Amino acid sequence: MERWAEFSAATKLDGIGVSEIIRIGAQARALVAKGHDVIMLNAGEPDFPTPDNIKLAGINAILTNQTRYTALDGTLALKAAIRRKFLRENGLDFADDEISVGAGAKQVLFNILMATLNPGDEVIVPLPCWTSYLDMIKLAGGVPVCVSCPEDAGFRLSADALRAAITERTRWLLLNSPSNPTGAIYSSAHLHALGAVLRDACRVGVIADDIYEHVRYSDVPFATMAAVCPDLRPRVVIVNGVSKAYSMTGWRIGYVAAPAQMIAAMAVVQSQCSSNPCSISQAAAIEALDGPQDSVRAHCRDFQQRRDMIVDLLNSIPDIRCTLPDGAFYAFADVRTLLARPSVIGQGITDDMALCQFFLNECHVAVVPGSCFGAPGYMRLSYASSESMIALSLARMKAGVERLLAQ
Ligand SMILES: Cc1ncc(COP(=O)(O)O)c(C=O)c1O
Repeated sequence: MERWAEFSAATKLDGIGVSEIIRIGAQARALVAKGHDVIMLNAGEPDFPTPDNIKLAGINAILTNQTRYTALDGTLALKAAIRRKFLRENGLDFADDEISVGAGAKQVLFNILMATLNPGDEVIVPLPCWTSYLDMIKLAGGVPVCVSCPEDAGFRLSADALRAAITERTRWLLLNSPSNPTGAIYSSAHLHALGAVLRDACRVGVIADDIYEHVRYSDVPFATMAAVCPDLRPRVVIVNGVSKAYSMTGWRIGYVAAPAQMIAAMAVVQSQCSSNPCSISQAAAIEALDGPQDSVRAHCRDFQQRRDMIVDLLNSIPDIRCTLPDGAFYAFADVRTLLARPSVIGQGITDDMALCQFFLNECHVAVVPGSCFGAPGYMRLSYASSESMIALSLARMKAGVERLLAQ
């Protein structure tokens, strides 16, 4: 009998792997399993529990048997709550057929790319960026066109850089504001400048990933491209979700607002992979969007306090520098000076990957190298952790750096 050939993954997975962030998390958990007390500053999720009113809505959905398949891309009740959210918070009016709900903003982003990219279509991605973007684009047959946005430009894409990146094949510009990993925010002035370039490039649409909309530390109103440049709205897609604002990462609800034809194409993708998002989570998401918003504001105030603390502590470590992020819950620290020190290089630490490995192995603090976000020479620390854990981890890292420099 012929033997089953050795397994090899499909070629469409070439160059695509489980993300480095997940690998670091697994390594940290392995150390914990061996009895080490590792502090995880690598996680991309709020550490707060889901607010009680939202949990109760989920429990109630179970008790009232809302446990069957729902409409493919979201119940009408959830779509109505999402429409109210867009109207209330962004001044944007959408119809039901312009809204789609998936299992997290991640699935929704994947649906968009699968439904719209033809082989070779280009997606402009400002770096540093959330790494999943690049792999998702590739899986969908597209080509990521990465544009580095240096720190002295606020980690933001300039109008000139956008203009230079646009080609005949450009299909999308993917903007994330506030940004993971830098916390950078595009103001309405920044969006106007980018919008002016896009006006001359009528094939190019915008995917606005607004998932961190509610984690911002100034009173400046939130700006999103569809509201700032209403004439571009027919080619703007807005991605959002309940994961970050309502501490609901495990519930897996994300949503998108887009022109109806695009929503219909996304429904085709979702119908053949996962069908509807969880019925119970959808009921809970209605309460999140329609219910009291005090916890969102309270969590944001807590994050702001932790941000100030972690940035101060980072800047107290020799040769590490960190500017104050405007949003999200990550500090993005520059470690290039440290990596240039002969005593550090002499110990085999020549890049941000090796430095983060040192912090994990020697200081038992898990942080993510900037290379994972397309920004070598940096590292990302999540401050979705208690103040005492932040203080302890940064003290360990400082002692570790001092040891490195003393050798
Ligand atoms: C920038 C960005 N977009 C989208 C997501 C996906 O969020 P979710 O799938 O939990 O809704 C994340 C999660 O970390 C993110 O950082």
